[in-house]
Amino acid sequence: MKPKVIVYKKVDKKVLELIEDTCKVVYFEKLDSNIYPEFIEELKDTEGLIGSGLKVDHELLDLAPQLKIVCNIAVGYDNLDLAALAERGIMATNTPDVLNDTVADTIMGLILSTARRMPELDQWVKTGQWNSGLEEKWFGIDVHHKVLGIIGMGGIGSAVAKRAHFGFDMEILYHNRSRNQDAEQRFGATYCSIEELLKNSDFVCLMTPLTPETVNLIGKREFELMKESAIFINASRGKTVDEEALILALQDGQIYGAGLDVFVQEPVKKDNPLLSMKNVVTLPHIGSATYETRFKMAMTAATNLVTGLKDGNPPNLIN
Ligand code: 8YV
Repeated sequence: MKPKVIVYKKVDKKVLELIEDTCKVVYFEKLDSNIYPEFIEELKDTEGLIGSGLKVDHELLDLAPQLKIVCNIAVGYDNLDLAALAERGIMATNTPDVLNDTVADTIMGLILSTARRMPELDQWVKTGQWNSGLEEKWFGIDVHHKVLGIIGMGGIGSAVAKRAHFGFDMEILYHNRSRNQDAEQRFGATYCSIEELLKNSDFVCLMTPLTPETVNLIGKREFELMKESAIFINASRGKTVDEEALILALQDGQIYGAGLDVFVQEPVKKDNPLLSMKNVVTLPHIGSATYETRFKMAMTAATNLVTGLKDGNPPNLIN
């Protein structure tokens, strides 16, 4: 008898076919409040769950007594209560590596568009305000040959360091739980304390996972250490930053600007002050959002699911 699994995110039909080869699939393209009761009903005899963003904790697990594996279509897994999953012997997986280059591209895009004020000037041109030569007040700041500080030198951080080092002649500083010899050798990255990184970087890029240790990792004290000319980039998780402190640091001119792909609340609230700041570039969590990479992520997660259910040894086990 094929194990029953729930796919709770829209995926390519090739992904569904891979799963349907060995599993009985219940498919929800999107989990909204209308469909949620049916989802809960289906959980009762489900052995596998695949998607992203769903909070998987004791409360949900109590409704899924047959569950054997939870597969995130994401590298981040702050939505999973790993202790609760481990307690019940349920496997958890993520999708590392396949998205590194795409997210790194997004980050370089945020760095360039914030430093050179591209969205702001795009609107200026499109609203017909370009009538003569460009006045100095529209100038941006250089990216090449500047100092890039990366907090969290994992797979994505390394991909950013590679682009910045070889593509933009940038000096790389980094802080991480452990040394990354490969990034030091290949990209000349220099390991330092967070304080040194914040004091000496022209661009500060936050790329840590969201864990109890990294909640509000960057707050008032950290922004005070940064240069007034510095730009802050966040493409990790919104809660790794004290968003109120970021707003104040921008309003007080403590830092030059920010490029943000993630927010404490997503979608970001319409009245969030960050949305009305010209020196802030905002994106709707598009880090990995390309057709190619999202397909690779979904296929990676599907492989984790079918392998995990077949032999209990999924490639990207995180617990
Ligand atoms: C996901 C991400 O697409 O992989 C991650 O951790 O943040 C993105 O790539 C996003 O989590 C989907 O909800």
